[in-house]
Amino acid sequence: MTEDSVANLSERGWRSTAFTRLVGIELPLVLGAFGGASSTALVAAVSNAGGLGSYGLYGLGADRIRSVVTELRTLTERPFALNLWLPFDGHEWDLPSAQQFADYTRALAPYFEESGLALPEQPATFLPSFDEQLDPVIEARPAALSFVYGVPPQDVLERCRRAGIVTIGTATTPDEARALAAGGVDAIVATGMEAAGHRVSFLRPPEESLIGTMALVPRVVDAVDVPVIAAGGIADGRGAAAALVLGAQAALMGTAFLACDESAANSAHRAKLWSADAETTVVTRAFSGRAARGIPNRMSRELGPSGEGLAPFPVQGWLASRIKATAVQREDPELMSLWAGQGAPLVRYHSAADVVAAVVRDVDALLPVVEQPRL
Ligand SMILES: Cc1cc2nc3c(=O)[nH]c(=O)nc-3n(C[C@H](O)[C@H](O)[C@H](O)COP(=O)(O)O)c2cc1C
Repeated sequence: MTEDSVANLSERGWRSTAFTRLVGIELPLVLGAFGGASSTALVAAVSNAGGLGSYGLYGLGADRIRSVVTELRTLTERPFALNLWLPFDGHEWDLPSAQQFADYTRALAPYFEESGLALPEQPATFLPSFDEQLDPVIEARPAALSFVYGVPPQDVLERCRRAGIVTIGTATTPDEARALAAGGVDAIVATGMEAAGHRVSFLRPPEESLIGTMALVPRVVDAVDVPVIAAGGIADGRGAAAALVLGAQAALMGTAFLACDESAANSAHRAKLWSADAETTVVTRAFSGRAARGIPNRMSRELGPSGEGLAPFPVQGWLASRIKATAVQREDPELMSLWAGQGAPLVRYHSAADVVAAVVRDVDALLPVVEQPRL
């Protein structure tokens, strides 16, 4: 892949790549999905600006998914992507026993009390099932469907293929990228450790899969034959150009778009992204039971990075989301996840169209089309 991608850059210009042609977009620029914080306005803004908007469906049931897609279709006629979390290890999670649930809840009792909430009862389910989510996605036929936390099963990929949906897997290591390519996905996001949100490693623990974007992207490009999308720490045109030079066929940005007015980030989270506190990010299991990168706060510090003694995913995520709901109302950034990537201090623009325009302007300057001599 290496020689081809270098040749592509100089002959065709940076805007047309194997990935843009695959999904039918004008620019090799992708909006990261934000499970729990995606907005149709932001997805449509990025798609309408020529990139690929992506909506994170984490936690949404079938009816919500249908209404999100209906709304997206009123806001854009351009291609967009949807995003799903795969059940870990290919099976849905086991419910905790009543005793386990009580223990997990007690570990967070001071936060419930501080929030003025009674300790919650165990719900019948913590998350909608993968199958419940997949049916409306296939019906909706988005241009692309991206997955995190594993290799999508063959029957899922086959259903996407029949519906004309481009499938995108997510890798944090070259081995994961090889597994995804062997599994038959159409494209792969290579997501470096700089990235905001969950470390979506699935072959080895996240702590053993912390590869930076600069090393990960060319390693994944060399390892697979499908288009690679670079993610993690890309927050402006310099990062996007670097990703393309490393052989990626598109650059994905999360934090830079999350900071925009169109995003669904709550006001306390948004204020933190624009503050000096965004200079530091940490990986913590405090808010979901799984490792994820965000701006540290009292809850992440008190519960520690390892999550020892806390509930596993998805129980911890469900419990923390109760506490977060009150914190959002109170605009209290200390008791909620503040996902952010290492590029957060680079954000400059409050509108998604401005982010895209600045990236285009800077990449045009950095990667000019080289006229080929006519023979
Ligand atoms: C609030 C938030 C939620 C996220 N949720 C998801 C998700 O549900 N699925 C996913 O694939 N990536 C998710 N991500 C990761 C982003 O899509 C993207 O890969 C990441 O932000 C890229 O790194 P950057 O922020 O350094 O640009 C999330 C990121 C944030 C900030």
